[in-house]
Amino acid sequence: MVETITKKFEEVYGDAKGVKVFFAPGRVNLIGEHTDYNGGHVFPCALTIGTYGVARERQDRKLRFYSMNFSHLGIIESSLDDLEPHKEAGWTNYPKGVMWAFEKRGFQIPRGMDILLNGNIPNGSGLSSSASIEVLTGYILRAFFGFEVSNQDLALIGQYSENNFNGVNCGIMDQFAIAMGKKEHAIFLDTADLSYVYAPVKLEGAKIVIACSNKKRGLGDSKYNERRSECETALAELQQVVDIKGLGDLSEEQFEEYKSAIKDPVRVRRAKHAVYENQRTIKAVEALKANNIVQFGQMMNASHVSLRDDYEVTGIELDTLVEEAWKVEGVIGSRMTGAGFGGCTVSLVKDEAIDTFIKQVGEAYCAKIGYNADFYVVEVGDGPCEL
Ligand code: GLA
Repeated sequence: MVETITKKFEEVYGDAKGVKVFFAPGRVNLIGEHTDYNGGHVFPCALTIGTYGVARERQDRKLRFYSMNFSHLGIIESSLDDLEPHKEAGWTNYPKGVMWAFEKRGFQIPRGMDILLNGNIPNGSGLSSSASIEVLTGYILRAFFGFEVSNQDLALIGQYSENNFNGVNCGIMDQFAIAMGKKEHAIFLDTADLSYVYAPVKLEGAKIVIACSNKKRGLGDSKYNERRSECETALAELQQVVDIKGLGDLSEEQFEEYKSAIKDPVRVRRAKHAVYENQRTIKAVEALKANNIVQFGQMMNASHVSLRDDYEVTGIELDTLVEEAWKVEGVIGSRMTGAGFGGCTVSLVKDEAIDTFIKQVGEAYCAKIGYNADFYVVEVGDGPCEL
């Protein structure tokens, strides 16, 4: 890969003098969905697929970007003096947003850069290709200009840029999972205070299989922001009757006791999901630690039901993938992962059932939805690195 992309860099920019090569992973969330902006727990892991980047610094303030995934767009030029989001700048709004966020933090980027990216995360799949680009960009800036920021800071800077430059009010999960990833471990993160522990993902005889619905997300981002504000309103209503900082502070019992403070039935369901999903995540991680993978799988299934019925972020594509997965013998658990409204599901599947799983779920999906899903057997990998 290093050789292929360095060669491509040379072809695109004329020569490859002074380049360095980097990688940042994608991520999948095993459980704890739509809890990260509610002060709850998440349990994601970094993947061995992700974004590769070749970069070098320039002598002037120009920025040149090229993505092998969007090669038809050619080189997209900008400048450190124009760190503003532009619609026509397309994907380059992600790296530019991170540069902008560094400057907001008081780090002056002294010189421009030539950057080439090549990702092997399916675009728009919900495996966080954008957060991967954000963390990668931060890592590149630190490597070239020596900015004193930790990997955790890279996650926060990435999230800040996504929220304030790209207009998606996401939580911290994706950037954190990517910046802090660890091979063969998932990260049990408390988003209320960013404390975390690594938990081994020992699946013994099973693998993580991602099914990508290939449904274009479309309205996803605005629906995402809508869910977030529904939760914020529900929290404000609850705060009239109980002293909490986030929905993640409540147990299921407390929620049932106080929920009548929420004045709208839809918001009750949204908040219920946030509270129950957080508690489910805590219990699921305990089950995994106790090697009770069957119970972990049941929690994954329950997570999907809650996202489908109470949080309403699944849709027929994700529901079909999950409901068909549940029918396959050897499936330990299956649920949608990420923001929802399209994107992917994550399933734990016993080794001997993987082929049947892909065939059976794939055929049923195509028959019902009218186009194919894609399947990936993935591995849990490390965070970003220089290659
Ligand atoms: C997206 C966001 C995350 C998180 C998930 C839902 O991936 O970027 O912050 O909220 O959706 O769990």
